[in-house]
Amino acid sequence: MALHCSRTCRKYLLHLAQENVEFRLPEIKALLSLSGVQFTPDEHFDEKSPFWVLSNVSEEDVRNVMKRTVCAKSVFELWGHGRTHQELQLSLKNYPTENMVPYLKSDSTYKINVYTFNKTVLHQERIQKIDTLEFLPFSGKVNLKNPDHVFCLLENYGSDPNRIPEDPFYVYFGRWIADGQRDLIRSFSVKKRHFIGNTSMDAGLSFIMANHGKVKANDLVFDPFVGTGSLLVACAHFGSYVCGTDIDYNTIHGIGKASRKNQKWRGPDENIRANLRQYGAEKSYVDVLVSDASKNVWRTGSLFDAIITDPPYGIRESTRKTGSQKEMIKPPEDFNGESHVPVSMAYHLSDIFTDLLNFAAKHLVINGRLVYWLPVYRPEYKEEIIPQHPCLKLISNCEQTLSSHTSRRLVTMEKLKEFEDADGLAHLLHARFNPYQGHNSFREKYFSGLKKKTGKDEFKNTKKL
Ligand SMILES: C[S@@+](CC[C@H](N)C(=O)[O-])C[C@H]1O[C@@H](n2cnc3c(N)ncnc32)[C@H](O)[C@@H]1O
Repeated sequence: MALHCSRTCRKYLLHLAQENVEFRLPEIKALLSLSGVQFTPDEHFDEKSPFWVLSNVSEEDVRNVMKRTVCAKSVFELWGHGRTHQELQLSLKNYPTENMVPYLKSDSTYKINVYTFNKTVLHQERIQKIDTLEFLPFSGKVNLKNPDHVFCLLENYGSDPNRIPEDPFYVYFGRWIADGQRDLIRSFSVKKRHFIGNTSMDAGLSFIMANHGKVKANDLVFDPFVGTGSLLVACAHFGSYVCGTDIDYNTIHGIGKASRKNQKWRGPDENIRANLRQYGAEKSYVDVLVSDASKNVWRTGSLFDAIITDPPYGIRESTRKTGSQKEMIKPPEDFNGESHVPVSMAYHLSDIFTDLLNFAAKHLVINGRLVYWLPVYRPEYKEEIIPQHPCLKLISNCEQTLSSHTSRRLVTMEKLKEFEDADGLAHLLHARFNPYQGHNSFREKYFSGLKKKTGKDEFKNTKKL
């Protein structure tokens, strides 16, 4: 008796981009969970592979993922797979005919593509590979330009470009369903952005952050270190309302020196609102304010669905907070020098993260996500240095390498419980909530690494790098 295969017992093949490899799993998990579905890896799951098989999901679930993902290129309904073409044929022959038939009808048109990972295959060889699929009951006509259905034979030749095998390690065949949103990386490129700064976040990473944060239509998203608003742009594209703060008056007001080459001053209307307008998302703009993240100006309560941010690391911009006379150490009575009240003082990295986590614990809704970058000195990195908080659960922590000795880690946390006063002091009472003090010397380590590497003082040439 042929078993009826319901929609959810079909399998789907995800073809992923081989960049930002560590960011892919948390992205796909987050996007599936937006549809209320858990990621279930199959027995051969290899996180680093460009191909993942998804089970226990429906076509609608994977279509929803593809509407948001910048890590995955395409998704296919998997009809067959195997270590060899013989295994693939056997697997295809066992695939329920009723699942294939709607796409093979005589009044429909189709096309078969061949995709080879880590190997270039000549046109003639591609045709030969397509010919091996002749046994499939295609009854429609081939149409290469505008087919009703597209099928794909995908071959994986491993990841070593210096040792490409004669035959593929694994082969798949499936019906193409949808492509991901990788085009956004180009269409939202900061090179074409109206308002940019020295530290504007790359478009691809901004979308990944929004996805890790599970931002969705009508959410309210906040960036406390908003800069030129690149993260707001990505969140607004997914339909969230966005707001932010920054200590820098010129950045918030879009005035002062320009960051573009060949342009001295920022032009009129070079501001965050104009960036959103550029992408048709001005209706998502709530507001931006000049405000110091170390001084909480917000009313008590859960205000934000997500906090997506890129705090300063002190490399391209200084880590400063507003100072006051009270915070100054009093000079001795006999001090004759000029009395000076600083307008700003150092904001140590460990304090930035303590304040950020406390802020998120206070102002996120339950299950709301905090997504932020943490700079790390690689030789000293261990997982324990990731700041913890009693109200927040660590969801993912992915590395982006900056140099041989430095990297930044994209940290995603989710709010579990409401904030109580004692939680704000947890970092003083428990070692595991105390952010790693070594973060504070990140800037010195970053530049000492540069000096060691080149043998000269590159700091002189980096200015406000
Ligand atoms: C890495 S940049 C953020 C860049 C931003 N994601 C973008 O795409 O333009 C960090 C920002 O934090 C701001 N900043 C530094 N110290 C701050 C503080 N104490 N409070 C609020 N913002 C601060 C800086 O002015 C800078 O714009």
